Amino acid sequence: MEGVDWQTLERLRAVFLEGAPVRGAYWKSRADLASYDATLGERIGWKWDAVLGELQRLGWTPPPGPMLDFGCGSGIAGRRVLSALARGGCSELRLNDKSPLAEEFAAEKARTLFPDLPLRIIPGGNVEAAAEGATVVISHVLGELPEAGRERLRECVRRAAAVLWVEPGTHADSHALIDMREALLAEFRPVAPCTHGSACGLRTPGNERHWCHFFGRPPWEIFADPEWAAFADRMGIDLRSLPFSYLILDRRDRAANPKEPVEGCTRVLGTPRFYKGYARLFGCRDDGVTEFNWAKRHAGPLFKRVKNEEAGSLFRLETEEAEIQSLEPVPPLPPEESETTGD
Ligand SMILES: C[S@@+](CC[C@H](N)C(=O)[O-])C[C@H]1O[C@@H](n2cnc3c(N)ncnc32)[C@H](O)[C@@H]1O
Repeated sequence: MEGVDWQTLERLRAVFLEGAPVRGAYWKSRADLASYDATLGERIGWKWDAVLGELQRLGWTPPPGPMLDFGCGSGIAGRRVLSALARGGCSELRLNDKSPLAEEFAAEKARTLFPDLPLRIIPGGNVEAAAEGATVVISHVLGELPEAGRERLRECVRRAAAVLWVEPGTHADSHALIDMREALLAEFRPVAPCTHGSACGLRTPGNERHWCHFFGRPPWEIFADPEWAAFADRMGIDLRSLPFSYLILDRRDRAANPKEPVEGCTRVLGTPRFYKGYARLFGCRDDGVTEFNWAKRHAGPLFKRVKNEEAGSLFRLETEEAEIQSLEPVPPLPPEESETTGD
């Protein structure tokens, strides 16, 4: 975190918290992007780690071809995706941002990390063409776009082969992403977090107050790091809480990855809430969203593992009305060490 400029970070954080469409560019220098990349950007990287971990659990990979990082900023999202997939079948990294400073910074970082990967900066007017047949990566951009910008982005995304999209885990950002999902369902199959391609249950009257969000886990080392403690203190950020919303879309049908285990599964949104003897889980599946009760007496040792956040958010449930009779994590959890050693 050496050389981080706190005043810059405070200015940027104020812009991001505003959550309103942003006019002009807020990147004033390369140093702004470096400060962001080491701190706020790295925190976004942890959200991507959670999403990419989930995609690895599902056995999903993007189609081979170019990848466009739209609104790339310092380029953290594109780099995380490429690193997680060990570059995968990416034939070219395309970077676009309304700020040329950001594009140059992101390009420099990507060249260092992936020296052999062809890379192109895409002028604003060419974004639609660059999205054609590409895997489009979008991260923390939607809140900055006015309605016309969202429409343009939606039409651009419509041309993609696949979309990996991560936004903050607020009610507003989640619902903006759900709007995109609904508008794009004709062209794409949702891969995650959705377990189905039906209409989003959160849009059903009465469910508007809920939102589709998840929590990432920062690497444990940062909690012993005085620089991250200083960052959290100055920014007023609770490092333990890392909410995000996300959406993965694929133009290919399921035959491209028949192993994807989501059919018939329930995605648990937010975090389960634990009470004495039972938990409440807000589950999403193709028949809508439901608040389920899960009695500890039905759960066995799994109750503790779900409480300890070991079990992910995807489950196979047997239910009677809103009562869970049985719950199985998908994919199944490896046995606890004590189960294998007999301790
Ligand atoms: C909060 S930053 C996120 C940067 C990066 N995607 C990340 O996740 O760290 C939002 C970025 O979107 C860019 N941006 C905003 N509106 C844009 C537009 N209409 N076209 C291209 N980039 C845009 C901003 O310049 C900024 O770099």
